[in-house]
Amino acid sequence: MAEWEDLRRECEACRGCCLWETRTNLVFGTGSETAELMFVGEAPGEKEDLSGIPFVGRAGELLDKYLYAVDIPRENVYIANILKCRPPKNRDPLPVEEDACIRFLWRQIELIDPKVIVCLGRISAHRLIGDDFRISRDHGQWYTRRGRAVTAVFHPAALLRDPRRKGDMLDDMKMIKQKLGELASPDEEENR
Ligand code: URA
Repeated sequence: MAEWEDLRRECEACRGCCLWETRTNLVFGTGSETAELMFVGEAPGEKEDLSGIPFVGRAGELLDKYLYAVDIPRENVYIANILKCRPPKNRDPLPVEEDACIRFLWRQIELIDPKVIVCLGRISAHRLIGDDFRISRDHGQWYTRRGRAVTAVFHPAALLRDPRRKGDMLDDMKMIKQKLGELASPDEEENR
């Protein structure tokens, strides 16, 4: 679709912060452009920077396992990040970088029109849900932002560091699957 191509081209050419200078590849986003479910991470890591695809490293492999566990094919979802370029040494995104990049994400969300948005981790949740969001307290809660159902779960990289949260993550993923079923239109339900 022309709109997607234009958006990607605009994103490639963006010089709104300095990260384009050190990236290998733009990590625009991947998956179904008509997805009901969209995941939003923080920023590309090394593997993502090298491949141009979000969540392909160890954290991505863990995310894939959770998708499999709740029977959601990865190709049916869309995965993107708050930042489209890798911050050097995987440092946290700077507010100026998020401010420069966030419009691309909102445009992706408008084009996809997902029923449910899932923030992966604190940084994404702060940006899409609100500054007072606390991941250990508020994960799995539902919010409405710009008319859409939004929730946040632990970042898979955080689960690799602290596996004690893996049970919470599975519960949250089951709850997300259930929410998708509740929000499905009647003819979509017939096809389930
Ligand atoms: N972590 C993220 O937040 N995004 C990626 O794409 C990979 C790791």
